[in-house]
Amino acid sequence: CGIVGYVGQRQAAPILLEGLQRLEYRGYDSAGVALAHRGRLKVTKAAVRVAELRDLVGDNHPAPIGIAHTRWATHGEPTDANAHPHTDSEGRVAVVHNGIIENAEALRAKLTANGVEFASDTDTEALAHLIAARLRDGAETLEDAVRGALRVVEGAYGIVVLDLRSPGELVVARNGSPIVLGIGDGEMFVASDVAALVRHTQRVVYLDDGELATLKAGDYRTSTLQARRTDKTPTEVELTDADYQLDGHPDYMRKEIAEQPEAMRRALMGRLDERFSTARLGGLRLEPRDLRSIRRVKFIGCGSAYYAGQIGANLVEELARIPADAEPASEFRYRNPVVDPDTLYVAVSQSGETADTLAAVQELARKGGRVIGAVNAVGSAIARECGSGVFLHAGPEVSVASTKAVTNMSTCFAMLALLLGRVRDLSVADGRRIVAGLVALPSRIEEVIAQDEHIADAARRFSAARHMFFVGRVRGWPVAREGAQKLKEISYVHAEAYQAGELKHGPIALIDGDMPSVVIVPDDELLAKNIGTIEQIKARGGPVIAVTNADLPAGLADIELRVPRTEPELDPILFGIPLQLLAYHLATVLGRDIDKPRNLAKSVTVE
Ligand code: G6P
Repeated sequence: CGIVGYVGQRQAAPILLEGLQRLEYRGYDSAGVALAHRGRLKVTKAAVRVAELRDLVGDNHPAPIGIAHTRWATHGEPTDANAHPHTDSEGRVAVVHNGIIENAEALRAKLTANGVEFASDTDTEALAHLIAARLRDGAETLEDAVRGALRVVEGAYGIVVLDLRSPGELVVARNGSPIVLGIGDGEMFVASDVAALVRHTQRVVYLDDGELATLKAGDYRTSTLQARRTDKTPTEVELTDADYQLDGHPDYMRKEIAEQPEAMRRALMGRLDERFSTARLGGLRLEPRDLRSIRRVKFIGCGSAYYAGQIGANLVEELARIPADAEPASEFRYRNPVVDPDTLYVAVSQSGETADTLAAVQELARKGGRVIGAVNAVGSAIARECGSGVFLHAGPEVSVASTKAVTNMSTCFAMLALLLGRVRDLSVADGRRIVAGLVALPSRIEEVIAQDEHIADAARRFSAARHMFFVGRVRGWPVAREGAQKLKEISYVHAEAYQAGELKHGPIALIDGDMPSVVIVPDDELLAKNIGTIEQIKARGGPVIAVTNADLPAGLADIELRVPRTEPELDPILFGIPLQLLAYHLATVLGRDIDKPRNLAKSVTVE
């Protein structure tokens, strides 16, 4: 979900609405705004997109203070009543909230027993009632009331609170859900994501878990839940509003696919050591001796970040010859993992805020595990919690379906694997080969993107398919998984990824003329095996789209999507690109909302 708040001299409404628009990728089930002016609280909220909310609110409201929200439903369906902000019964306190209140049922029961009537099914509304009750009971300041209310709340939250009778101030708090303050000139902003702030200011303060802040037009002060003052040093973010413009592209996914060569060059910049044929990853803070003591590598992430981790694990095994694997963070955190001191754990996340990944990192920290981040968003919770790692440098990613961040994840893992390999047995010659392969990779991506029309044709040809297989083996397996994930996310076509060799052990029963298979066929030592898989599919009448850099027998595949050659170990990075475009074009043909696929959100900051 997305949060924005403003207090200053200007009209709040346009600032809040524009901020919400920037955050819409975080959730778009419903949206709302609360504005306070001359003793009146005006709340406008509905199960609509931000553009429609703008029509409902109008740009002309004079209030110089307000809060706003765009929602990704957790408790309660996406309805008008469940949209944020939520208010107390008297309509004096308004709250916007990200996260989940775990003891919401108990709080609700207690409040109901005291005569409070609830207007929504959300866990958030209880907060508004609790804060209002503290104010009625004589809390001296809004901050005290919020602090008191939060003491009885269990769960994760990022909140912003506005009270009609505490004019000119907002109180915000964070526990497990991101909150960042923006410092303006005689005005203050708050948001759940810097994306909503960079149009107005580059000076920000990230709240830590267990922190509160009171914002007034000209200043802010922070403290802990226990009322101890905290000292925060503002940081300057490098992002500006220009980083969030569409620049003539029809949507963000398209823009971000196109940006990949440039994004990858940024990830590689200054990190390849051509003299010693290795990588320089200073952010890891690991000396050669530390690197040598690593006996295993484990990648942890969610969704596409998990699949990128799987590509990373393969690279580490291939180049460094140490055991490596990947696991979804949501599984890792709940299965009481054995944490091994000789394992390097890599937390993978574009946003750096995914709740499951963050919890896995915290679990590792508790158990004394060595964990580094592979994160795109600088200043995010996972990056800060890890303290060291490798930033992805993909630039802001807005499209819910991840493209450039995923590509940079596997690129960074290739560098990590190279580094781990070169302190072990990877030869100078092989190191040189990988370095040269990485240097050339951005141009190879340009070559794939240049085939856009051909890939669009393939998508049109198969646009009637309701199901698709994505098949790959070894290096191609995580590529197939990520390709299937992309297609599911944005086109809603059912896609299932399968290991090529496992196809014949069950799923092949599904193959017929209406079930196309996308087969990943790199020109490596497994080429003959993959050709065999294609033949098995063809023998059952299944159409085949081969993604390949090999010379396949003429007529073997119905369609070939060609990928340029790179070093075989790096194939998975490049083979992902045509699959992004395939999903993109299929979703476009089907008329889907590319940047805002149904039921999803860019960053899931709840469990
Ligand atoms: C959400 C998105 C996925 C993404 C995953 C991990 O579920 O819909 O596309 O891969 O989160 O996000 P992260 O920011 O941690 O990489």
